[in-house]
Amino acid sequence: MLKLKHSMNLAEIRKSVFKDIETARNVKALEQVKGKYVGRQDGALTIILRSLKDMSPAEKKKVGPEANVLREEIEQALDKKLKEFEAVAASRGIDVTMPGKKVAFGHLHPLTLVEQKIREIFRSLNFSVVEGPEVETEYYNFDALNIPANHPARDMWDTFWVAPSQDRKPTTAETRRLLRTHTSPVQVHYMEKHQPPFQIIVPGRCFRYEATDASHEINFHQIEGLMVGPDVQLTHFKYLLTQFFQRLFGAGVEIRFRPSYFPFTEPSFEVDIKLNNKWLEVMGAGMVHPNVFKAVRYNPKQVQGFAFGMGLERLAMIKFGITDIRLFYSGDLRFINQF
Ligand code: PHE
Repeated sequence: MLKLKHSMNLAEIRKSVFKDIETARNVKALEQVKGKYVGRQDGALTIILRSLKDMSPAEKKKVGPEANVLREEIEQALDKKLKEFEAVAASRGIDVTMPGKKVAFGHLHPLTLVEQKIREIFRSLNFSVVEGPEVETEYYNFDALNIPANHPARDMWDTFWVAPSQDRKPTTAETRRLLRTHTSPVQVHYMEKHQPPFQIIVPGRCFRYEATDASHEINFHQIEGLMVGPDVQLTHFKYLLTQFFQRLFGAGVEIRFRPSYFPFTEPSFEVDIKLNNKWLEVMGAGMVHPNVFKAVRYNPKQVQGFAFGMGLERLAMIKFGITDIRLFYSGDLRFINQF
């Protein structure tokens, strides 16, 4: 059998409605009380008013006026209560009875996480962390690094040039500006102001004018490294890298050097690491070229050292198993919230 909804009579309504209105804690609760008694669809009093037309004349004469008076009283009580809420809200500026908003906590971006880890590892190995400008002169980005104008090696760094301002004197390599294509210019800045022995890393943002795809972005990050002293050798570098990659990727990681070419190192090589039985190229490196030392007025007969540069995105992709570099800059929370 169908259960009929209990319908209230006038006495029952009168008994509870004013208490309900008085105890409503906020506007939303008040709306609910209103719906319960005088709601257009199935308010308790609405049902009675709607049924008047089916009543006998005698009954109608008794119930009708009473129901209408009650409706009037309810409307007034609702109105009064609403005004009270409004007055409180106006005096406080805020409605403290409103339900609270959930606060979403943020967290660090995966690139920041990996950069922090790398800084921490190198600092524990007594390296200083140094930074340099993102807008460079042609001199620091190329010339001082043994990459003269018209040298084919400049093709390796597709460059965003900064348009010279109209009122400038004719530009030279000293003054022509660009967005740095690598962090290597900071080697030169640092050596101009410091004397060996030292060891530094340089985290920073770099820019290359190239088509984007799953492994290329026009904007990316590198970590440069430079260690110089009277007797800094490749064996030191190999020890350092082993320490570094084992701490970043775990004790099992293997390392190998492959011959390569950079104008500012001689000899030069690429460094690969072996992870999950696969060799991955992760950095360029080499012994600092004597011409770079000459550019900063060091005597290449008295000092030597190694330099290296690695892409932060690439390391983060390996560490977290990310397959597309563009995800880092997508701002997509479905991606970001996984870290
Ligand atoms: N600057 C080089 C690049 O961007 C990397 C590198 C740094 C190579 C230092 C050798 C020494 O590809």
